[in-house]
Amino acid sequence: MEAMISSPRIIHIEDLGLAFEQDGRRTEVLRGLDLDICAGEFIAIVGASGVGKSTLLRVLMDLAKPTTGRVTITPDPNAERPMAMVFQDARLLPWRRVLSNVMFGLEKTSLSKSERVTRATEALKLVGLAEMAARWPHQLSGGQRQRVALARALAVRPSILLMDEPFSALDVATRENLQDELIRIRAETGRTILFVTHDIDEAVYMADKVVALGGKPGVVRSNRKIDVPRPRRRGSIALAEIAQDVRIDITADHRDPDFVI
Ligand SMILES: Nc1ncnc2c1ncn2[C@@H]1O[C@H](COP(=O)(O)OP(=O)(O)OP(=O)(O)O)[C@@H](O)[C@H]1O
Ligand SMILES: [Mg+2]
Repeated sequence: MEAMISSPRIIHIEDLGLAFEQDGRRTEVLRGLDLDICAGEFIAIVGASGVGKSTLLRVLMDLAKPTTGRVTITPDPNAERPMAMVFQDARLLPWRRVLSNVMFGLEKTSLSKSERVTRATEALKLVGLAEMAARWPHQLSGGQRQRVALARALAVRPSILLMDEPFSALDVATRENLQDELIRIRAETGRTILFVTHDIDEAVYMADKVVALGGKPGVVRSNRKIDVPRPRRRGSIALAEIAQDVRIDITADHRDPDFVI
């Protein structure tokens, strides 16, 4: 058995299944998912379109109800919110300036206006956009808008950051730049990150572990620890080999008995 790392378990998923009922028809989307995530881990979830990646995040956010099984979330007591989410599109409010967009999630808190401004300014600094605080969303590039969305999520100091294909609408150079920024931000903040992507190279480059979902209904095909030291080199042989294994996990129509870590 491998040595235990002593960070506490933050998400425990046991036998999770979910089926949608629509027009009298039942569609089973997820079946028998078991997954444990520890505080501070960076987990990438990969799988083909429609396998249930976003549905899994919705279950964690308590926006969808599982049909079977259990999900237990034990947030870091020092965090102010259990979770925050970043989507594929930034979802900024066009009538609010950048700073005000980042302050949005803080409005229901007991923070004073000046504390909210300070907090939002810090978050913008963290994503490298401090000087754009007074701009309107339409004055930003797609990559900058995604940074604002990330700042908005970080500003509420969540225990867990959920990200649903956050960089997939961006060009390659911007995407790679944001990947490196997120790795840096994660190192600076120690947040637990669940990052959904269908880009396997992105997953193995960034994550500590890559969870591959596959099949219909979606099951966990593999949960691979990415044992490649950081900083990692894009396109290195070590990463390419792991990516190839993950690709096989996703497409193979059976569970590989060797995958479990
Ligand atoms: N509210 C709903 N009612 C019925 N079916 C749904 C609902 N939400 C999602 N589904 C179905 O569940 C399946 C999984 O959807 P989900 O959005 O989780 O996939 P995904 O892995 O995120 O795909 P993508 O990579 O395209 O974003 C799909 O077949 C989808 O049509
Ligand atoms: Mg999705």
